[in-house]
Amino acid sequence: MITDDYSRRVVNYEEMHDITKDQLEKFVEAARISTGNIVLDAMAGYGTVTKTILRFAKKERLDITVKMLDRSIEQLHRPEASEIPGAVERIVCDMPRGLEQFGTMSVDRVLMKQGLYEVPKEEQARVITEIYRILKPKGIFVGWHINIDDKQDQTAFQEVIQRKDALAGYKELAARRYFFRVDELHHYLGEAGFCRIERLDHWEFSLDTKKVKAQEFSGKEEAWEEWCKFSDARLNIFYRIRRESGEKVVYHLGHQSIIRATKRLKVAPYC
Ligand SMILES: C[S@@+](CC[C@H](N)C(=O)[O-])C[C@H]1O[C@@H](n2cnc3c(N)ncnc32)[C@H](O)[C@@H]1O
Repeated sequence: MITDDYSRRVVNYEEMHDITKDQLEKFVEAARISTGNIVLDAMAGYGTVTKTILRFAKKERLDITVKMLDRSIEQLHRPEASEIPGAVERIVCDMPRGLEQFGTMSVDRVLMKQGLYEVPKEEQARVITEIYRILKPKGIFVGWHINIDDKQDQTAFQEVIQRKDALAGYKELAARRYFFRVDELHHYLGEAGFCRIERLDHWEFSLDTKKVKAQEFSGKEEAWEEWCKFSDARLNIFYRIRRESGEKVVYHLGHQSIIRATKRLKVAPYC
């Protein structure tokens, strides 16, 4: 039986990671959505990306079909998603296996924001090959990821987030998540067959321990203190800038970025 920490994890990502409307719009624009497209918001959570897609389609007067997919039915039906019209299909799907319900070459665009690291390392390549399979020729995948470049940074970051998840009571997240490096992502994409792999916009990625406390450690002061101590010791390898004022500690951990990859034309061995 699948246990799902996300069924009870109520976090606001925009608040926790200072995500702006402008960044979300750039992400959606990167997908080059056009009329007639079937667009999939993969690992959609409570639908922030879906809502941005719908606003974009309205502004550009595009007639498109939008589907949002997540492993957790609770996330798909959070109050934040209530304004999403019923015409947007909500699909409960555990990736990568669950993607088998989608036909080969059945969607035009797949957008996945902060999703791939949710699946264990050994399943990540299959998530990407499944996305490749369901995309139509010349279909576009757009991902939003944290850029981790080297192994030492990766280990420190992985340990800090793993410890946070465990202390905050999310054992399954602590066990499953794998924060891949940029070279691993490029390898998955290349092996799946994607071409024109482009890194587009990027912006700072920071971890604000006070915001994490508000979102994930409600009523767990001691656990949060323990995590802060652990993070400080561990992130001294990884962090570029650390700002402190009172209870507030912000680690600037490099960048997150948008990556766009295109499915090859069926008939051509290259594009
Ligand atoms: C960090 S949240 C990101 C949500 C959304 N993309 C956003 O950025 O606002 C990750 C989401 O992935 C979902 N998820 C985790 N593992 C999954 C899987 N194997 N298949 C489908 N969804 C999954 C979780 O339920 C959660 O809603």
